[in-house]
Amino acid sequence: VGLISGTSADGIDAALVRLTGPPDQVRIRLLEFTTIAYPPAIRRRVLRLAGGEPIPVGEVSNLNFLLGDLFAEAALEVCRRSRLAPRRVAVIGSHGQTVFHRGPTVPRAAQEKMSPRECSTGSTLQIAEPAVIAERCGVRVIADFRAADVAAGGEGAPLVPLLDYLLLRDEELGTVALNIGGIANVTVIPAKAGPDEVLGFDTGPGNMLLDGLVRHATGGKRRFDAGGRLAEQGKVIQPLLAKLLRLDFFRRPPPKSTGREQFGDKFLATHFLEQPASSLERQRLNLPEPQFKDLLRTVAELTVRSIAGALRDYVFPRGQIDRLIVSGGGTRNQLLMRRLRELMPEVTFHLSDDYGLPADAKEAIAFAVLADRSLHGLPGNLPSVTGARRAVVLGKLVSS
Ligand SMILES: Nc1ncnc2c1ncn2[C@@H]1O[C@H](COP(=O)(O)OP(=O)(O)O)[C@@H](O)[C@H]1O
Ligand SMILES: [Mg+2]
Repeated sequence: VGLISGTSADGIDAALVRLTGPPDQVRIRLLEFTTIAYPPAIRRRVLRLAGGEPIPVGEVSNLNFLLGDLFAEAALEVCRRSRLAPRRVAVIGSHGQTVFHRGPTVPRAAQEKMSPRECSTGSTLQIAEPAVIAERCGVRVIADFRAADVAAGGEGAPLVPLLDYLLLRDEELGTVALNIGGIANVTVIPAKAGPDEVLGFDTGPGNMLLDGLVRHATGGKRRFDAGGRLAEQGKVIQPLLAKLLRLDFFRRPPPKSTGREQFGDKFLATHFLEQPASSLERQRLNLPEPQFKDLLRTVAELTVRSIAGALRDYVFPRGQIDRLIVSGGGTRNQLLMRRLRELMPEVTFHLSDDYGLPADAKEAIAFAVLADRSLHGLPGNLPSVTGARRAVVLGKLVSS
């Protein structure tokens, strides 16, 4: 069983999979998949924790155990639905809920000449106590996958590229796997690539800014813009878009990873919601306040332009890309999907569903596969992706 709640903190994805074949040619059958939405009060607490405001340690500790219980519930539910006794599950791989993530601040080349203490390394924290999951399910659990990669000097993210590599590599076709979750990330697999030729990085916001704006404008009544239909009615505010596309993050070459620390509510507040200076300017020039739908449309455009821009700047120049395989909740936003196609007419678009990886389930499947690898003492990170010094076995084991 693979478990994850992504940066959107919309709920816990649980995938029950059967793995067969040798680890490097693993075959996957998805037996069952479900998403258990967080109860609204829990979601608010998770978002507050991840929002970077000062929080008592007790709250972190409490939520860690509460989420452990909810993650266990999700694992049990996916077993119940497929009528499988939980004790027959070989292992649960739980990503947990990220509440803090920051990649290393010093580039790898420079790190090599420094002691780990000299270069402030990255740090990352996922919660949902694995001991609770193991106890409630009676199944051993591997959790905390990102820490070992960060300890080895890596970004700790993304980790899904190994799954992409195992399942989507092709002898003839250059492939980009694009996941549009809260954050958008890509895995680049050139034709005939070996594991050390895979590139992967976060391109920036996926649904995170869109969701944040919708939540703000509806007083929390709506969680996302279904189908992208609201944004579709707005107009792009070009000067704002141009300014945001010049942000440092977009201009930094990979490896790079990001999260709510960068593109969370603070970012929205600064760039979209509170702009006293520009608002005065507007009054002086007698311009109307920007409408919510225009802001939403601008955020959507920033999202697709940052994705296409990253591919154009850092991926397409490195070699032929023939197909883009898309997954994540963003695939349901028709505006995002249409604009991506328009911005990159030279590649063909597919949904990961066409490759046996349902778009919603891919990340959960990845953590089942990663747990299996860890059990077998096999590395789960790709150093060419995360920037780690070496390939390492990921995760910590709680026996049942
Ligand atoms: N019908 C839909 N229309 C538009 N966006 C959607 C729809 N369904 C899901 N989403 C978006 O997908 C997000 C969840 O995507 P997911 O891949 O689970 O992200 P994460 O991995 O960050 O949890 C939601 O927060 C929402 O923004
Ligand atoms: Mg999710």
